[in-house]
Amino acid sequence: MKKRHLVTAALPYANGPLHIGHLAGAYLPADIYVRYLRLMGRDVVFVCGSDEHGAAITVKARKEGTTPRAIVDKYHAMLKDTFEKIGIAFDIYHRTSEPLHHETSQDFFRTLLKNNQFEEKESDQYFDEVAGQFLADRYIVGTCPVCAHPEAYGDQCEKCGSTLSPTDLINPKSMLSGSVPVMRPTKHWYLRLDQHEQWLREWINTGRTAEGGKQLHNPADWKNHVLGQCNSWLEQGLQPRAMTRDLDWGVDVPHEIPGSEGKKLYVWLDAPIGYISATKQWALDNDKDWKPYWQNDDTALIHFIGKDNIVFHCLIFPAILKAHGEFILPVNVPANQFLNLEGRKLSTSKNWAVWVHEYCEEFKGQEDVLRYNMIKKMPEQSDSEFTWKGFQETNNNELVNNLANFVNRVLVLMHKYYDGLVPSVNPDQSFKSGWDAEKTGQYNEELHLLHQKLEAMGAEIERFDFREALRIFMEISSAGNALLQFNEPWKTEKENPEMVKVVMNLALQHVAALSVAARPFLPFAAAKLRDMLNLAPLRDEGDLLDVLNELVEGNPIVLPNHAIGQAAHLFSRIPDEVIQKQIDKLTATDPAPTTTEQEQPNTTPSPSKYEPLKETIQFDDFAKMDLRTGTILTAEKVEKSKKLLKLSVDMGFETRTILSGIAEHFTPEEVVGKQVVVLANLAPRVMMGTESQGMILFAEDSEGKLGFVGPSANGWPNGMGVK
Ligand code: 2FM
Ligand code: ZN
Repeated sequence: MKKRHLVTAALPYANGPLHIGHLAGAYLPADIYVRYLRLMGRDVVFVCGSDEHGAAITVKARKEGTTPRAIVDKYHAMLKDTFEKIGIAFDIYHRTSEPLHHETSQDFFRTLLKNNQFEEKESDQYFDEVAGQFLADRYIVGTCPVCAHPEAYGDQCEKCGSTLSPTDLINPKSMLSGSVPVMRPTKHWYLRLDQHEQWLREWINTGRTAEGGKQLHNPADWKNHVLGQCNSWLEQGLQPRAMTRDLDWGVDVPHEIPGSEGKKLYVWLDAPIGYISATKQWALDNDKDWKPYWQNDDTALIHFIGKDNIVFHCLIFPAILKAHGEFILPVNVPANQFLNLEGRKLSTSKNWAVWVHEYCEEFKGQEDVLRYNMIKKMPEQSDSEFTWKGFQETNNNELVNNLANFVNRVLVLMHKYYDGLVPSVNPDQSFKSGWDAEKTGQYNEELHLLHQKLEAMGAEIERFDFREALRIFMEISSAGNALLQFNEPWKTEKENPEMVKVVMNLALQHVAALSVAARPFLPFAAAKLRDMLNLAPLRDEGDLLDVLNELVEGNPIVLPNHAIGQAAHLFSRIPDEVIQKQIDKLTATDPAPTTTEQEQPNTTPSPSKYEPLKETIQFDDFAKMDLRTGTILTAEKVEKSKKLLKLSVDMGFETRTILSGIAEHFTPEEVVGKQVVVLANLAPRVMMGTESQGMILFAEDSEGKLGFVGPSANGWPNGMGVK
């Protein structure tokens, strides 16, 4: 285990507010991880800040008819405030416009120059003769050579997602003056990325920068999609890349360098160095030394980002760090994929988003509900989807019915039976375990079980599987609920007070465990729980470690005779109207989405032939489906329905009537005799006056054509499970 951690979260551009995609992509996972490390007493610094340079800022300033400075001031303040409100606990939220950052990036440039990492090269670039300046890639618009979109940018086509160069554009125009730009020679400093290709390939795939070198990380710990994207870049070969630009907003190339006039550092040599300058500022503010966090092998450097920044953080920035010579490399870059919203890609320009600052305004006091939903839907391995209905269900079924209900029951009963004083227990007293209704529980053993669950939860956080960690966290609450349910203290208190004491004491230990374990996921609820239990606020200095140390010894977290506080409000049901209002708000911004309008944040065009993969499910979700083989015995059209065929299906053990929406694809004759796969435990549904008792599975292509899915040959026995 490394001695200290330096955790970074992608610096957001200070050109707009934060949406839920940003939150689920980088900030929430980073926050959970850091809060957990703090609870385990580890030395960790969590840095972030606003990315205040680059075309993203100047384009926005032009759009709003103001200056880049006004834009970054406005959005920096807004981002900082939103992060605070939603509980992202950075140690510092810095800015790249700070002089300390300018100095730090310029020093990097100087060192790279001294280390012969650059080649100075003259090349032709687009120049706007009317505006009298070279054009950033974003300032050139033209027709996309891939999809013919007439308003593609010089760096990317937002319609098809292709990465472009300005010279790829057909009929390029300057966004500044509308004139046709001309090519003019200009000189820049190119980082010799080609010289870094070999070690980067070795490092990404083996965790060593050279054969036989020190093992810096284990590639098996990295996400597959991260490794995959890096390798596909490496396969194309790395070319020298210009690290400077002709711009008037950004970090100056150091003035003492000949030819520096009018030149700024490209964002690649600016934004990620923001992590370092933020750490320096944190060290200054806290009387610490920044260097061990960046320059000592004992530090685990971890970058949390979205998938659009993978190459930047896994290849480009490591090359810059290595080229400098005094910096460590990240041990992991647990990038997330994208979060979609109500079936579509999130889109800032089309306002197809849930804005976090608006959420915080409209759902005051329910910040944790959004966090919980974001974690549940975190796009850890594949893209995932947020829906307002799902948000409501998750809140009502899990946070209210499970967590809040459990806590409330425990606190109310504790006051009712023991005036809020934690009862002493006879550890030999038996009761029914909350983990298994069939099992007789034993006090110390149940504390051990709690210990195991908390450890398992922590292990998942350490491997960046936050969804699974949250699931285990909720299991503790479910087990607490079950403990009460199985032992029914409200019925047994009179006749078996000793047993109820153990059950209530134990239920309270569960609440106490949750009050600590909730901190990474639901920090506001964690604080409320501490208050309700009359326990000291969490210090973020090893509180979970302390709990684990007690439980592993079979000791309770809260001692007998401790006086708990009063039950207070934790989570409440969200009614339909509130959800409908949000759905209406969203659809009012863009009521008629079309497929072509969907934004493609991915830099590689996604093949439209394939539906996007649904979010990952657990085996338990799959196991709930009872899939069986069956043979269609008869088929007939359903009166007044264009779509439905009424089928009788031999399921082996019985014959079922199933209505299937396939009448536009197959005639009744075509389907009779076919062996199919049936979802046999789908709740029956009445359609057109007939009850349908299952669902038949079909394959569907991108044009909506259906094909049969079943055993490879007819004649398989019916009623067999499909697994
Ligand atoms: O993609 C972005 O949002 C940029 N602001 C870069 C973020 S990563 C960086 F900070 F290194
Ligand atoms: Zn295109």
